[in-house]
Amino acid sequence: MAGTEELSFSEAIMAAGDAFHRFPLIKIQGVPLMCHIVHNWDSIRAFCPDPSDLLIATYPKAGLSLLKKMDPPRVIKTHLPFKLVPEGFWKNKCKAIYVARNAKDNLVSYYHFDRMNLTQPEPGPWDGYIHKFMNGELAWGSWYDHVKGYWEEREKRNILYIFYEDMKENPQREVERIMRYLDLSLADDVISRIVELTSFKTMKENPMTNYSFIPKPVFDQSISPFMRKGVVGDWTNHFSPAQAQLFDEDYERKMKDADIPFRTDI
Ligand code: A3P
Repeated sequence: MAGTEELSFSEAIMAAGDAFHRFPLIKIQGVPLMCHIVHNWDSIRAFCPDPSDLLIATYPKAGLSLLKKMDPPRVIKTHLPFKLVPEGFWKNKCKAIYVARNAKDNLVSYYHFDRMNLTQPEPGPWDGYIHKFMNGELAWGSWYDHVKGYWEEREKRNILYIFYEDMKENPQREVERIMRYLDLSLADDVISRIVELTSFKTMKENPMTNYSFIPKPVFDQSISPFMRKGVVGDWTNHFSPAQAQLFDEDYERKMKDADIPFRTDI
C-alpha cells in the first residue's frame, strides 16, 4: 500500500540516484504529507485490503517492528492518521494495532529522525521544532489528532491500542497481548524468542532493522542513528524547564477531551 513507510523509502532510494533533496509537504484534508504520498493519493484511498491483513498504525517514531517477523496475514504499516486510512480496512473488518508513544519522547525522536532523514523537510533549531510539533506542521500532521483519532475509534473498529512505554516496561506482556488479539497461541519459547529478537539491542545490530541498507543520501546515520536510544524519558535531556512547562500547558489544552493513559517515565 502506498503510504507505508516501506514504499516511501523505496521511492526515496530510487529518487536518490539523481539529485537528492528534502521533499516539500502537501496537505490532504489538513494533514501535511510527503509529496510522493500525495501524488499517489487516489490509489492509496482506493486500496482494498484482504480481511486477513493486519494494519499497524503509528505516528512516526513511536516504534514497532515487533510484528514484521511474523508469517502472514500480511502486515501493513502506516503513519496515516485515522481519518485518512483507506475505508477498505474497516469495511473488511481488518485487525489493526495502534502504537502510541508519549508526546515528548515522540517529539525528541522525530527531531533526530528529521535531522538524519534527508527526504523530510529541515527540522531547523530545536526550540522552533517544538512549536512545529505543537502546531501539527510536521509530516503526517498533528500528534495530538493522531493519537486521539485511533483512541476514539478503538472500540468501534476493534483496534488494539498499545503503548511504547508498556512494551519497554514488559515486552513479554505486550507480545502476549498482541498474540491474544490475533487469536494466536504461541509456545513460551517462541514468545521469548520474539522478545529477544525485538529488543532494542538486537534490532540496533540487525542490518534488516537498523536501516543500514538505506543509502547515506537518504538516511545519514552519521548525523543520528536510525535506532537511536530506544528509551523512555529521553525528553528530560532535551527540554529546558521553560520548554517543558510551555509544552505541558499546551498539551493539557489539546488533550483534555481524551483520557489516554500516557506515561513519560516508567
Ligand atoms: P528513539 O529515537 O527515541 O531512539 P519508528 O520505528 O516508528 O521509526 O520509531 C523509531 C523509534 O523507536 C526510535 O526511538 C527507536 O530507537 C525506537 N525503537 C525502534 N525499535 C525499538 C525497540 N525494539 N526497542 C525500543 N525502541 C525501539
